[in-house]
Amino acid sequence: MTISKNKDYLLSLNTKTWLNNMFKKKKRNIKTVKWQSPSNIAIVKYWGKVPVQLPMNPSVSFSLTNARTETEIQYWEKENKDTVSAEFYFEGKRKHEFEKRIIQLFTEIQPAFELFDKYHLRIDSKNTFPHSAGIASSASAMCALALCLLSIEQELEAFDEEDLKRRASALARYGSGSASRSVYGGFNLWGECMFFPDSSKEYAIPITNHIHEDFKDLQDTILIVRSEEKSVSSTAGHKLMNDHAYKVARVNQAKTNTENLINALQSGDFDTFIQISEEEAMSLHAMMMTSKPSYLLMKPESLEIIEKVKKFRNETGTPICFTLDAGPNIHLIYPKKVKEKVMKFVKSELLQHCENENYIDDHIGEGPVKI
Ligand code: PMV
Repeated sequence: MTISKNKDYLLSLNTKTWLNNMFKKKKRNIKTVKWQSPSNIAIVKYWGKVPVQLPMNPSVSFSLTNARTETEIQYWEKENKDTVSAEFYFEGKRKHEFEKRIIQLFTEIQPAFELFDKYHLRIDSKNTFPHSAGIASSASAMCALALCLLSIEQELEAFDEEDLKRRASALARYGSGSASRSVYGGFNLWGECMFFPDSSKEYAIPITNHIHEDFKDLQDTILIVRSEEKSVSSTAGHKLMNDHAYKVARVNQAKTNTENLINALQSGDFDTFIQISEEEAMSLHAMMMTSKPSYLLMKPESLEIIEKVKKFRNETGTPICFTLDAGPNIHLIYPKKVKEKVMKFVKSELLQHCENENYIDDHIGEGPVKI
């Protein structure tokens, strides 16, 4: 008798909590915003930064299609206006470490955004690219998050789509520098370049209108040499540029390469594109190898692949080149018209150097979408 009474009591308690929650949810008026954003691959690399999260040098990248992050924010009015309040979930699981990082970031930028005073945020994020592929997701993740936040802010302060993108790019930059370049499809420039008076260190600008047709269907086959997390983070790598012996030379090299790359993209000069892409990838890794302390992110397999790509290009005349991010994986960049030939070469010669013969088939894309 007592037991069943207790059970009834518990049941009625559960029902009460459930009803309360339902009531609260109704009262809360939960709103939702959702964006999908791509990752991007830099041809001229951003390496080294100055406060506050500004690049030491200009960089140029193109946005991808398949490597994407989808982020949804549910938001509702909160009582305490003074502190930022947010929860972060990745693929359904709460991630306390990352949550702490973004709350810290949101607190720093709180004065510039009304939304942080007004709303509690529940952020749900997931990636479309394979788990543990060794591909950095910070660019797509930070870009999708920034676009969601700016869409919420747009309800509170009136600004147009162009402003939304520009402000999202500036905000994404705080989370991850390269994320600023994922806001638009096609090619993006972040940092100052004399050819574009509206270019800025604060945000990226789209430069696709100025690109030759031959560069509009670029492919990126990403060869997964290692999927494990890299031993030295990009944040640590950027810091090592502050006192780097080659700092001035590197910044000048990147400036010249940005201008030359933009000229090549405009005129359809694939040879110059190849030369700059490979020089930039090697320079990025050379900076790591010559920093104090020095470190190495390429693996023997990365070098095997690089050698084979150069040989294949020399022997067949195929317009193809490689680039690398801060990791051992190789991005093969080439126009769509040679895809069949390249994939034959990849399968017969290169996959043997990849972890579990793993690769990702990607290409230049249209940029983020609101869903
Ligand atoms: O965006 P971050 O801060 O993780 O820096 C990454 C920089 C590189 O990917 C190595 C180069 C680039 O320009 O994307």
